[in-house]
Amino acid sequence: MTNICILGGGGFVGRNLVSQLARSGHRTTVPSRQRQRSRDLLVLPGVEVVETDIHDPASLERLLAGQDAAVNLVGILNGSRRAFERAHIELPVKLMAACRANGVRRLLHMSALGADTGSKSLYQQTKGEGEQRVLAAKDLDVTVFRPSVIFGPGDSFLNLFADLLQIAPVVPLADGRARFQPVHVTDVARAFALAVDDPDTFGQVYNLCGPQAYSLQELVGIVADTLGLKRTVIPLGPSLSWLFARLLEMKPGKKLMTRDNHYAMQTDNVCPDGFPARFGEPANLAANLGYLLGAGIKDRYDRFRTAAGR
Ligand SMILES: NC(=O)c1ccc[n+]([C@@H]2O[C@H](COP(=O)([O-])OP(=O)(O)OC[C@H]3O[C@@H](n4cnc5c(N)ncnc54)[C@H](OP(=O)(O)O)[C@@H]3O)[C@@H](O)[C@H]2O)c1
Repeated sequence: MTNICILGGGGFVGRNLVSQLARSGHRTTVPSRQRQRSRDLLVLPGVEVVETDIHDPASLERLLAGQDAAVNLVGILNGSRRAFERAHIELPVKLMAACRANGVRRLLHMSALGADTGSKSLYQQTKGEGEQRVLAAKDLDVTVFRPSVIFGPGDSFLNLFADLLQIAPVVPLADGRARFQPVHVTDVARAFALAVDDPDTFGQVYNLCGPQAYSLQELVGIVADTLGLKRTVIPLGPSLSWLFARLLEMKPGKKLMTRDNHYAMQTDNVCPDGFPARFGEPANLAANLGYLLGAGIKDRYDRFRTAAGR
């Protein structure tokens, strides 16, 4: 697989994957709604960033011409039912059509741990439906990945808590008992990069988790310790968590939390089998949080820019 088209390649996971693939000599094409936002990828060898509308079937078909494999990393955490369906169900279906039109058989699809058509969360419901549609394509060589929450430089999960803890001496915490098994972004990207050329992964679904599970409250404590902050965290019970999510949802601008996130957190986001051995050893969380300290200016600037849609 020499030429790989990566939808969502300009995002948090995508950037890591593009640079791993560039190191192993693959050529990648990264479509973006705003080429400018991914211009730093252009310094990597063999990377092309194309400004296009991937929801337009004709543009998508053109994008897949001459590719050996497609990777779909597109996902949204908040939005209307329509927006979730468009990103998590309709786009993978359009991508499969564009693959078929160009004779591209290999497709790697990013789902999420907890993806489930029966979930109350629209995120998990639509991710579940998208995953099923992709796995039903018996004429394509599909691999599906389902990570728990992903951490690493530039993440929006632990960095969000780091930002909150820096400014608030008292932090009300919704769904503090929700459990996650965070996996490092480099490990997730490595799983994709190794699977691209590996026929044994065709037709497989891989849960991706780090070595250890934590409650959300424990994670917030670890972030505070890493930053050397003493903070009072007030865990909220189920009804107050719902109310808190409802209030945050009404805040204009970037959503810190929504009821949909609250519904998703009612199920543990952990995988007892851990990280698949074929993709190597997953990084330990506590030993790899240095980026929160230095998150420095570039990371913060990038996140602010993304939040501002620029
Ligand atoms: N991060 C996690 O903790 C986590 C955990 C489990 C699963 N996942 C899944 O992993 C995937 C990658 O996550 P990430 O954290 O890397 O996400 P991210 O940083 O938000 O990047 C998502 C990418 O998708 C593209 N995108 C988003 N909405 C789009 C839309 N409506 N139309 C077209 N393109 C759109 C963006 O492209 P532009 O360049 O055009 O902006 C962006 O590059 C997602 O599918 C996510 O659901 C993530």
